[in-house]
This record gives sequence, C-alpha cells and structure tokens, in this order.
Amino acid sequence: MSKYKNIVILTGAGISAESGLATFRDEEGLWNKHKVEDVATIEGFARNPDYVHDFYNEMKKELIDVKPNKAHLAITELQKNYPADISVITQNVDTLHEKAGNENVYHIHGQINQAVCMNCGNVIATWDDVTTEDICQNCGVLGMFKPNIVFFGESLLCMNKVDELLRKCDLFISIGTSGVVFPANTFVRTAKYHHAETIEFNLKSTANNYDFDKHIIGKAGETFPQYVKDLISCE
Ligand code: OAD
Repeated sequence: MSKYKNIVILTGAGISAESGLATFRDEEGLWNKHKVEDVATIEGFARNPDYVHDFYNEMKKELIDVKPNKAHLAITELQKNYPADISVITQNVDTLHEKAGNENVYHIHGQINQAVCMNCGNVIATWDDVTTEDICQNCGVLGMFKPNIVFFGESLLCMNKVDELLRKCDLFISIGTSGVVFPANTFVRTAKYHHAETIEFNLKSTANNYDFDKHIIGKAGETFPQYVKDLISCE
C-alpha cells in the first residue's frame, strides 16, 4: 500500500526558471518589464488587441523550442513509478509539462499555443501568430480571437476538475509559485482543510508560508528530483 493515493502538484513560473524562462515577480520578471494592465487584462486587450497579440506572439516564439528541465521530468518519473493518481495543476502557459511527458495536466491560466474566439468560444491550437485579421473557422467572424490566456478579471479554466482534485488529494505539492495570485494561492488551504499533507518547493519562503507543513528551499530542478527519488524508494 502506498503512503499517498492522490497527489496534486501545483506549479508556477519557478518550475520553468531552470529552462531559461523568466518568472513574473522576481527581479528580472515579466511584470517588472511590462504593465499588467496593458498585456494581461481584458480591458487592455479591448483597448489595443494588436499590441496584446504581438506580446503573446513574441512569447510564443520564445517558448516553442524551450526544453523541460529536471523538475518537469521528475514529475513524469513520479507518475510512472509511484502507485497513486497524480495530477498537475499549472499556472504556466508554457507547455513544458507536456514536453516532459507529464500526464493529467490542467492549465488553469490557459496555454500559449491556443487562441479562443470570443464570439463562439471555439478554441484553436496553433504555434503560428494570431492576429486581429484572423477569421474563426467555426463561426466565420473576423478579428475575435484572443490568446487563450486567462487575463486578470477572467474566470480560471478547469476549475470543477481542480476543485474535485483538491478535495480528494492526500498530498499537495507546490513548486515555484509566489502564492500571491488568487485563486491558485488558496488551493493549499483547500487541500489542507481536506487533510492533505502540504509541501512547498521554492527558492525562498512565500506568501503562503504558514499553509505548508514542509518547505524545501532551493532550486526545484535540484530539490524536487531528489524528493521524488526518496518517495519512490520508500515504496
Ligand atoms: P511568480 O513570478 O509570482 O513567482 C515565481 C516563484 O518561483 C517565486 O516564488 C520564486 O521564488 C520561485 N522560483 C524562481 N526560480 C525558482 C527555482 N529555480 N526553483 C524553485 N522556485 C523558483 O510566478 P507565479 O507564482 O507562477 O498569470 O505567478 C502566478 C501568475 O501570475 C502567473 O501564472 C501569471 C502571473 O500574472 C498569468 O499570466 C495569467
């Protein structure tokens, strides 16, 4: 019998940092270089859709060839070798979990390689640029695609599934998130309320500090693979 039956892993930008990607709120973070209200709010998109498309088209070009790192790969290792249901809830719009072979991945903030038609809800997958010149093949309407990124003020994706996972997990792991963005920063509390053990991997102490039973400080690409190795070898 394994110690844990249902494991939830919440990830943030920190898990992708060792793949060379900028986080949001660290010194070199994206939100120190760009205004959130211009590129990550629905009002900003309504004001200047071309600017917002350009921003995410550029991000897409940067992300297409980026490789997963040891922390992403350790999740695959865990999913293959530990007898539990293991899901990944990610705030990241990159696709590094998928590239690493992770399964059961839920992108609550959307995905960089998708766009959604605001007229009919049709979601398309593409690594090409998306612009205000594009016509939706589903409804035929021009210029209504928005990057499938959840902007501030919008509802998160997959939340029914997330809620179900948080209620039944017995181990909640958080990797590389500052814990300041709602509602992902409340997931640990929900899991804890339902009696999960909670553990955090980060370079430093976070805003959710008191909600975690255990903190493992360091680079996720070093600390998390070791943790996975130990967990598997205890079985
Ligand atoms: P943040 O930039 O807020 O936080 C990144 C966290 O990762 C920080 O706590 C760092 O200490 C930690 N970190 C950095 N490098 C690390 C490493 N090598 N190993 C372990 N930890 C490391 O990013 P998020 O918490 O993901 O939303 O931000 C949440 C959301 O805010 C994002 O999804 C984004 C943003 O607005 C959207 O774009 C929709």
